Amino acid sequence: MPPTKVDLTSRLAGLSLRNPLILASGILGSSGAMLREVARECVGAVTTKSFGTTAREGYQGPVITEVAAGYLNSLGLPNPGSEQMKAEIKEARKGGVPVIASIYGFTEEEYGVAATAAQDAGADALELNVSCPHVEEVGLEIGRDPDLVARVTSASRSKFNRPLIVKLSPNVGDIVEIAEAAAGAGAEAITAVNTVRAIAIDVEMRRPILGGRFGGLSGPAIKPIALRCVYELYEKISLPIIGCGGITGWQDAVEYLLAGASAVQIGSALVSRDFSVFKEISEGLGAYLSRHGYTRLEEIVGIAHA
Ligand SMILES: Cc1cc2nc3c(=O)[nH]c(=O)nc-3n(C[C@H](O)[C@H](O)[C@H](O)COP(=O)(O)O)c2cc1C
Repeated sequence: MPPTKVDLTSRLAGLSLRNPLILASGILGSSGAMLREVARECVGAVTTKSFGTTAREGYQGPVITEVAAGYLNSLGLPNPGSEQMKAEIKEARKGGVPVIASIYGFTEEEYGVAATAAQDAGADALELNVSCPHVEEVGLEIGRDPDLVARVTSASRSKFNRPLIVKLSPNVGDIVEIAEAAAGAGAEAITAVNTVRAIAIDVEMRRPILGGRFGGLSGPAIKPIALRCVYELYEKISLPIIGCGGITGWQDAVEYLLAGASAVQIGSALVSRDFSVFKEISEGLGAYLSRHGYTRLEEIVGIAHA
């Protein structure tokens, strides 16, 4: 019997993606031309590097190091600032798939300015990175405080009229509480999650390896944590969820869908692999659905909860 024809379309927050695979923010930098190239691969959407109001150089190196089953990075959000990013977003949109603009800020006003740039540049959706520290409470991520998350979400909502996604940090006590704050302030989808706060130490130097000392852990090492976040969120909130963390193969993507994600983002897999990872995962996903007699991707979203 020929395999069943499978529809991999993912619909979330008003976006219609030809498949559920999204390039995660930051991995390939800020270049619009690079995003345009990725868009020609087997992806449903691409996300820009997070940008803020003004250009930032980022931290002193080393900014990334390999650890068991993943990477630890502390880039310090290098980006060319919102004016330049408008041009990068316009370039990326030539790739023909939705472009998600990722923004950050240190105050709600800064989120508003970056959101305006994304709106003006025609970004198809906005993703709020809430993992940077709040200036008035140095060291504490905005994403750990439900009130701050609500404030930056509504500041961005008032400037951007297309789908608004809030990307949550896993470095919190109760991720559901933070997601509810975002939902209450106008978020239409949640990305779960950003990197896990971590550290690596050089035993000969007897010092932290990264210039920024602490870093964000990504890759397969964080998958069970990120998957747990998606699973918990699916039970408690009604917004669509984009799963992110440690996806390197189609089985990982299937796990996220079964846990309740409507789409997934892929980041670290591209550090050691080329873009063919998207095609491989997309084909594996299609074959899995077909093998189990499903005709639409949506049929498996959240069914690990039954
Ligand atoms: C080198 C590097 C840079 C990143 N830059 C950003 C960023 O600018 N904004 C953001 O929201 N996440 C950023 N991330 C986090 C990823 O988008 C993603 O949430 C995380 O790496 C987990 O997914 P993965 O395991 O597939 O990499 C970065 C991750 C890495 C490894």
